[in-house]
Amino acid sequence: MESSLPDLEAILLVGGQGTRLRPLTLGTPKPLLPTAGVPFLAHQLARARSFGVRRIVFATSYKASMFEPVFGDGAALGLELVYMTEEEPLGTGGAIRNAAQGLTAGPADPVLVLNGDILSGHDIGDQVRRHVAREAAVTLHLTEVDDPTRFGCVPTDDEDRVTAFLEKTPTPVTNRINAGCYVFTRSVIDTIPAGEVVSVERQTFPGLIASGELVLGYPDRTYWLDVGTPAAFVRGSRDLVLGRLASPALPGPAGEFLTLPGARVSAEAKVTGGTAVGARAVVEAGASVAGSVLGDDCVIGEGASVTDSVVGRGAHVRSGTVLRDAVIGDRAVVGPGNELLAGSRVWPGVELPECAVRFSSDV
Ligand code: GDD
Ligand code: MG
Repeated sequence: MESSLPDLEAILLVGGQGTRLRPLTLGTPKPLLPTAGVPFLAHQLARARSFGVRRIVFATSYKASMFEPVFGDGAALGLELVYMTEEEPLGTGGAIRNAAQGLTAGPADPVLVLNGDILSGHDIGDQVRRHVAREAAVTLHLTEVDDPTRFGCVPTDDEDRVTAFLEKTPTPVTNRINAGCYVFTRSVIDTIPAGEVVSVERQTFPGLIASGELVLGYPDRTYWLDVGTPAAFVRGSRDLVLGRLASPALPGPAGEFLTLPGARVSAEAKVTGGTAVGARAVVEAGASVAGSVLGDDCVIGEGASVTDSVVGRGAHVRSGTVLRDAVIGDRAVVGPGNELLAGSRVWPGVELPECAVRFSSDV
């Protein structure tokens, strides 16, 4: 059972450029990319609400003006949403300090802070209660990954006190990492310098630890994913469609695939593995699509094979083309008989002619 708290406030960090997700993020910020049929953040917002979060301050920077038209004042989601924009990106700490101007919480109240690119199944309510019970300055959700070098490495002692914070270290001392969901005591946010570029990972957390403040870990092994790379983004969408992570925002029942209104999937096509088919998208006869994200108005031609890939809005993948671990930008056209594998990316609007790219001769 998920447990809730009364009227919790949160700051959502959504100002990053999402460079690893280019070209998808050239036109749309990462937190708004269509994921299992809705903007990515819809899943995070619905989950936060289920744990008692009622008011959220968006810390925006990159493509800041695109958020409010999507989520408005939040009333439709049962939330109150406020938008605070940095004129220049202030880093994670500077963004939190800037967004705090939009909080109503008092100095001793807990405030939730969320990275805007995380899918997590952990019990936020329990994390907040642990923070309050231990009277911590900050409580960090921690998870374990195989390769901690890409994350914040966070060793703890026997009582879950964080003993160091090592952001993206080539020499990690544990597989336990910062999972990007914090509970701050409000007064601690107010100690971050205002109007400056500050990294919580490289400055605030190490500083608090050095000055003897209680930085607490909340270790947890439930579902967790940072969707910051194309492979992870596709996996996140797929896991939501399949129901591996339950989301109140999923626009339909969990299952092998999800179709949005107006999508047309031929009876002779095979769509499986948690694929999301965008609005008015077309999947023609003989095509097979597995574990992929198909944007609105895209077309997958006859006999094409699309696996673990993202096809942008209005893009065309012509007959017989094979995509695997590929990203096709909005409105791009991949001519017939191409084969795009392992990390291939086609920029928006680009047109590849017939058989222009192949990685092997046996297809
Ligand atoms: N407003 C604002 N301004 N937001 C920002 C800025 C900024 O200048 N810079 C980054 N963000 C937001 C991003 O949009 C994202 O939601 C969050 O802060 C984290 O940035 P990422 O760029 O996704 O960082 P990361 O994934 O490399 O590393 C972070 O997350 C890992 C977990 O996924 C760190 O917090 C690591 O310690 C952590 O392990
Ligand atoms: Mg990230």
